[in-house]
Amino acid sequence: MNTAFAAPKGIPEYTPPDSAGFAHVRATLIAAADRAGYGLLELPVFEDTGLYARGVGESTDVVSKEMYTFADRGGRSVTLRPEGTAGVVRSVIEHGLDRAGLPVKVHYSGPFFRYERPQAGRYRQLQQVGVEAIGIDDPALDAEVIAVADEGFRALGLTGYRLELTSLGDEDCRPAYRELLTGFLSRLDLDESTRERARVNPLRVLDDKRPEVRALMADAPLLRHHLSPAAAEHHAAVLGHLDDLGVAYVENPRMVRGLDYYTKTTFEFVHDGLGAQSGIGGGGRYDGLMATLGGPPLSGVGFGIGVDRTLLACRAEGVAPWTGARCEVFGVPLGEAARRRLVAMAGELRRAGVRVDLSYGGRGLKGAMKSADRSGARYALVLGDRDLDAGTVGVKDLVSGEQRSVPLDGAVAELVASLGG
Ligand code: HAM
Repeated sequence: MNTAFAAPKGIPEYTPPDSAGFAHVRATLIAAADRAGYGLLELPVFEDTGLYARGVGESTDVVSKEMYTFADRGGRSVTLRPEGTAGVVRSVIEHGLDRAGLPVKVHYSGPFFRYERPQAGRYRQLQQVGVEAIGIDDPALDAEVIAVADEGFRALGLTGYRLELTSLGDEDCRPAYRELLTGFLSRLDLDESTRERARVNPLRVLDDKRPEVRALMADAPLLRHHLSPAAAEHHAAVLGHLDDLGVAYVENPRMVRGLDYYTKTTFEFVHDGLGAQSGIGGGGRYDGLMATLGGPPLSGVGFGIGVDRTLLACRAEGVAPWTGARCEVFGVPLGEAARRRLVAMAGELRRAGVRVDLSYGGRGLKGAMKSADRSGARYALVLGDRDLDAGTVGVKDLVSGEQRSVPLDGAVAELVASLGG
């Protein structure tokens, strides 16, 4: 018996015509990075498992529970990339990109893989657009990275999101704060699994969503109030630059990100129309990561935006700044000679930059016109034997319904002109 295959669980597929929205969101986010001078870095989709274990952190859910890890046929342990930052840093070190001037500014996009429990907005294959700026520890660069993400969302027409940010401090203040928080946590009546979480990373408890734990944590010391002078100064400068850039933010001193490499600036873009999976993008500074992965001690800052969730945010706000049209002109040949002529015209139009599709398979006028309407084209080119004899072609405006005869020889130039080409 034949069994029909289905895509693996938890993977959003984007099929036409809806995929036009996905493509538009991704392209708009990439364009915002491009306008700020971030060059394309095309990363491998899988890497040595150790890169993520060391780079992202063994204590994170991403590494301990969610990685797609397997042995390849040569017996090496490889992992489908769960995120992009570790791969970018590996690539900068491997290719010595820092030697060509700092900061190294790159953007990347594509699928990432996390074995999470699938639900609306949470997938096992998720799509990100990310940027990383490596090698200069300047608060203006943190603000630039944040502004690029904000600009991407704005360019899509989104308004229902907010930027939350905080500082996670540096090596001068984090160890002492960790001790302070650990002391505070040891005096609380926490259940065993929360105690275990606190042992691995006490900061995680700050972000616990359960009301009873939140109540216990109300008086917890916050890193924001224990920053080293340098980290505090850095944070204030980032806020100043964001004000100058006109990027609105709210401070959230309890923010904890799911990855271990963050230092100083950390941020999340949160959308209110998405329910539980409300994070449409996030990132921050990771000043120790380069050295952790065996490179020179260079700083870094970046973001990853979830393309799937950003598309859901567009839907939630009812913004759809993309066209679902597959083509601009749709050819309807009625007969063999007409088909030869229209196939040639389609080639000419495409070379002139016009998007063209045709009716194939010798379909009649009615069926072919239905396809023309469905294609989203502005014009249908209708050509029959009589038109050919007269040296004309019917051009039907599919918006107004108006049809007129145009000389065959001038039809291509006329269509290019009326489509604004
Ligand atoms: P992240 O917060 O783990 O950060 O992921 C970034 C974004 O990817 C999230 O805000 C969310 O929109 C999307 N995302 C994550 N997991 C899923 C999922 N299971 N389903 C759908 N969307 C998801 C990072 O990955 C860091 N590498 C960001 C970064 C770059 N930090 C510094 N540079």
